[in-house]
Amino acid sequence: MTTPVRRRRIAWAAVAVSAVGIAAYSIPAYLTGDRSLSRIPINPALAPHYLSIVSHAVPASLLLFIGPFQFAARLRARRPALHRVAGRIYLVSMLIAAVSALAAATFSIDGFPVRVAFYLLSAGWLYTAYRGFSAIRRGQVPAHRVWMIRNYALSFAAVVLRVLLGLGLAVRSPLNLTFNDIYTAGTWASILISVVVSEYFLIRPRSIAA
Ligand code: HEM
Repeated sequence: MTTPVRRRRIAWAAVAVSAVGIAAYSIPAYLTGDRSLSRIPINPALAPHYLSIVSHAVPASLLLFIGPFQFAARLRARRPALHRVAGRIYLVSMLIAAVSALAAATFSIDGFPVRVAFYLLSAGWLYTAYRGFSAIRRGQVPAHRVWMIRNYALSFAAVVLRVLLGLGLAVRSPLNLTFNDIYTAGTWASILISVVVSEYFLIRPRSIAA
């Protein structure tokens, strides 16, 4: 039978592997400067569109990679200075990624419902980061933990979205879906799933790494 500690470790490993995998998959295409490698359509008439995607995707992939290690209790206990430095890199990357995401959403050619989802996600990202940062500046460790779990859950929506896109593309033909149907539904569903799952764990206090 699996113990709660073992279950927590399995959950942490699943999050870490999928986050690192999506970050490693996402970043190379946007390090080349070659807009033809972009995985989403870029508006050719709007030069800042590609720039906003690159300045969003690169720091966002970095923070997705850093996040799981910030929740590893043993690492935090053994290397508190590393936790602080990595935390600052995470927050600065998030600030750059969130502001660029607002621009990328404005330039997006994927439609109004997608744009609204990304505006709300950016706002939630900035708000939860602000709460997490101000809590730790006041020495409120439990509140810091809760807000940073919420913040990372929003970051993890990027992973959930890519899984949903894969599933959507797999059933595209039989269900007669357009890419835009899949992308719009996937964007909203990924936010909902990430928020509900993180709140579920938060109301069961000892169920994830503390
Ligand atoms: C949670 C807050 C996030 C917001 C608000 C956000 C917002 C956006 C927006 C607006 C776009 C352009 C979409 C379009 O034009 O249709 C985009 C694309 C992208 N985002 Fe994010 N994003 C977030 C998190 C992340 C994270 C954590 C990653 C890490 C992998 C990431 C990686 C990317 C990549 C690589 C693209 C380009 C499209 C692709 O290659 O799949 N985003 N994001």
